[in-house]
Amino acid sequence: MKQKFYVTTPIYYANGNPHAGSAYTTIAADVLVRWHKLLGEEGFFLTGTDEHGLKIQETAEKAGEKPQKFVDEITKNFKELFKKLNISNDNFIRTTDSEHEKEVKKVLQKLYDKGFIYKGDYEADYCIGCEQYLSKSDLVGGKCPLHDREPELRKEEAYLFRLSSFQDKLLKLIKNETLLILPKKRRNEVIKFIKAGLTDISISRKKEKVYWGIELPFDKDHTCFVWVDAFWNYITGLKRKNVFNKFWPVNVQLMAKDIIRVHATIWPALLLALDYEVPKTFFVHGYFTVDGKKMSKTLGNIIDPMEWAKKYQVDSIRYFFMRNIAFGQDGDISEKALIQRHNDELSNKLGNLVSRTSALAEKYGIKKPDNQDFEETYDSIKLFNEISKLIENYELDKALNKIFAFIDRLNKYVQDKKPWEMKDENNSESQEIIYNILQGIKTVSILLAPFIPETCEKIAKHFKFKISFEEINKPLKNFDIKKIEALFKRI
Ligand code: MSP
Repeated sequence: MKQKFYVTTPIYYANGNPHAGSAYTTIAADVLVRWHKLLGEEGFFLTGTDEHGLKIQETAEKAGEKPQKFVDEITKNFKELFKKLNISNDNFIRTTDSEHEKEVKKVLQKLYDKGFIYKGDYEADYCIGCEQYLSKSDLVGGKCPLHDREPELRKEEAYLFRLSSFQDKLLKLIKNETLLILPKKRRNEVIKFIKAGLTDISISRKKEKVYWGIELPFDKDHTCFVWVDAFWNYITGLKRKNVFNKFWPVNVQLMAKDIIRVHATIWPALLLALDYEVPKTFFVHGYFTVDGKKMSKTLGNIIDPMEWAKKYQVDSIRYFFMRNIAFGQDGDISEKALIQRHNDELSNKLGNLVSRTSALAEKYGIKKPDNQDFEETYDSIKLFNEISKLIENYELDKALNKIFAFIDRLNKYVQDKKPWEMKDENNSESQEIIYNILQGIKTVSILLAPFIPETCEKIAKHFKFKISFEEINKPLKNFDIKKIEALFKRI
């Protein structure tokens, strides 16, 4: 039976256009699923938009629009961006999908019937920016540090979810790694947070305050807390495509550190309450700044990935995000750094290697060496295994480093062997060297395909091989090679 791999991104708030942060997580998920599909596994990749809640209601009102129309517009932009970035998601879920809404209502009713939801009063500090309740220890100078705004004290009649009763079970699952949280640092933070004590949480708002949400099936005066609604996307997104049984439980859920706590508590608790298996892994990547500063509307430094995609090659953007930030750690991005990596790495290293070798092949021809001296030069399978291990450990930036170190070696090999200087009669020595380099280029293209798919497809088409792992060690068949046009023009 084929192995399966299911990966998700958070569903992004449809209260504003996509920014570099949403592009980043989505590209990372895309790289992972493409890698697993290349391995021959059956993959499923879900992303989408989170379209309910007070934040969206308020933003739409300010824009003088009905929330539905508002989110329709924004979601269109997310979809367009993901298409542009060559994102290979198998479904795009919207929480205003009627199927999703129906399913969430069923879930709420079941939770209520089983006694996990009860009516009470709720009072706590709430940050609308986070759409989350904050504890006193979260506040810095009385404000939410992420949004730099004072939380509002909320006290109101509400329905509550018995989160507290899951404390021990959650701790156990996380500690014994049934639910693995990576990196370890995040796992330890979550354990500390749960140990400090989980309280029951409000899962509803009065409709007169928040009308833009899913109505509670057992009380029409209340709408459902946006997170409960949102979490269920990870399940409805599969059910919509009739692949729930095949892909649940999810292999890995990507997110940044801003939302690991809710994911590691409310989400698995809801699943446990309804006897679902919990996710296998949460991978928490870092937050990045722009030119050293927090990305924010006030600073006006929000990067619109669509603007980048209009100016630069999509593969340069994908490569830049994955290479520039150590996956799992905080990092920084800037347009300058993007251009630099495009020029120095994609254009000078990869682009030149490919174009130079194809030109040599056109001029001298190529020939498969009789005595394969490949192993002397490099071992493709060994490299593949190393990259595989890194990707399994979510070390995406390191995987790219390693592939590019190999590209450096190939460039050095051409430089050292100087196939243009050989004077044997029929060029056969040069032809064999060129063959070896082309084999290396094939390996590189296959390994890089999940990261920069368009470029690798172009190379594969030109040299007539297939992007598949089985091809790595196969001999090249096409000996009639012409010079390829530049893959990355210098900026
Ligand atoms: N709607 C919720 C998630 C619900 S999932 C059931 C939400 N949406 S969000 O639009 O705010 O997206 C947050 C996610 O966007 C982060 O967890 C991260 O994946 C990504 N990022 C947003 N800003 C980012 C950075 N500055 N850096 C890295 N990732 C960032 O939370």
